[in-house]
Formats: sequence, C-alpha cells, structure tokens
Amino acid sequence: MIIKNVALETVCGITSVLPRNEKMEVAFAGKSNVGKSSLINALMNRKSLARTSAQPGKTQTINFYNINDELYLVDLPGYGYAKVSQAAKDQWGKLIERYLHGSEQLKAVFLLIDIRHEPSANDKMMYDWILYNGYEPIIIATKMDKIKRSQIQKHIKMVKNGLDVKPGTAVIPFSAETKQGREEIWEVIEQKIKP
Ligand code: GTP
Ligand code: MG
Repeated sequence: MIIKNVALETVCGITSVLPRNEKMEVAFAGKSNVGKSSLINALMNRKSLARTSAQPGKTQTINFYNINDELYLVDLPGYGYAKVSQAAKDQWGKLIERYLHGSEQLKAVFLLIDIRHEPSANDKMMYDWILYNGYEPIIIATKMDKIKRSQIQKHIKMVKNGLDVKPGTAVIPFSAETKQGREEIWEVIEQKIKP
C-alpha cells in the first residue's frame, strides 16, 4: 500500500453511535500496551498520529484512521488493564463488542500478542470471541525486537499453543522499532479488502 494521506477521522467512546462507514475496515485488538497504536503508526508511516504511551490504558476510544480514502485502520482500546474499575472495563468491553458485532464493513480482525509472553486468559477469550463473531483472527506477535532472533520461532509456537489456534493460522512477527513484518501485514490487509 502506498500511503498518500491519512487522518484520524472518527473517535468513539462508550456512549458514541458507531459510524456506518462506506469503506472497508480492519481492526486491531489486544491487551493494553501490546503495541496496537504503534503498529498502526508504522502501517501509516507516521511517528505519532496514533497516540502511544509506555503506560497501559492509553487508547480508551475506538479510533478510525482513514487511509487514502480507501479503507480504515481501527484502533481498539486495550483490555486487561488492571488500574481501572470493573465498571470501566465492562463499558469498554461492551463498546468493543458493539463494534465487532455491529460493523458491516469490518473485513479483518488482527489480534496482537506480545511475543515475549505466554497469551493470557484474556487473550484467549478475545481470540475465541473474534472467532465466535465470524472472523478468522490474524495473529501479530509484537515487539519482536525484544527477543533474540534465534528465539523467534520458539516464541511463535508458544503464542500458537497458548491461544490454541486453529491449524494453519498465521502468526506474523512484528516490530514497531525495526518495522519488520510491516509489508507482510499490509499484504494480508490488501488480500482482505479485495473486492
Ligand atoms: P493501549 O492504547 O494502552 O491499549 O496500548 P497499545 O496497545 O496501543 O500500545 P502502544 O502502541 O501505546 O505501545 C505501548 C508501549 O510499547 C509504548 O511505550 C511503545 O513504544 C512500546 N512498543 C510498541 N511496539 C513496540 C515494539 O515493536 N518494540 C518495542 N521495543 N516497543 C514497542
Ligand atoms: Mg493504543
């Protein structure tokens, strides 16, 4: 994908009416701090259009980034962030559910997992829930720059086993630091939005 113009077009909170977009959407889910916003910046060739933070819980809304007036990259709030009330977690959960369940333009859902760690119970729940909503989650193992190259395959296996993925499920290793994996992710997106 050649990036010509990008813009943050719509921001939705827990009380928002979600947009009925005409263009296709692909969404990025995953636990807080896993690197969703950083990945979206890398895909857009932007340093900080999507706000990132070392503190988990940065993105608390669903943010729709318009790419070339061709499609939307959708940044979802992270789950599993301990420092918020159960009530707030429930509300974000409902917002994400409303989106995944309700969007008519959503063509693919990526699930991001930190390559260093075994997937959590929440990750597994999210994986199953994406499947349940009729999508084949595409797994991205983030922060690959944090482990040795020789460890990557072992960690990918750990991610696959932890999520108990369906046979043949792709896991794409990615680093927002080195941009490794960026092209492969764009290829998958382009496949998914083909008319
Ligand atoms: P929430 O918005 O809280 O759900 O988090 P997020 O998933 O959007 O994570 P974000 O992109 O804000 O990144 C969290 C932290 O991880 C930031 O300090 C990033 O700089 C860092 N980070 C993200 N991706 C990578 C990566 O590939 N490599 C390294 N080394 N750090 C990364
Ligand atoms: Mg974020």
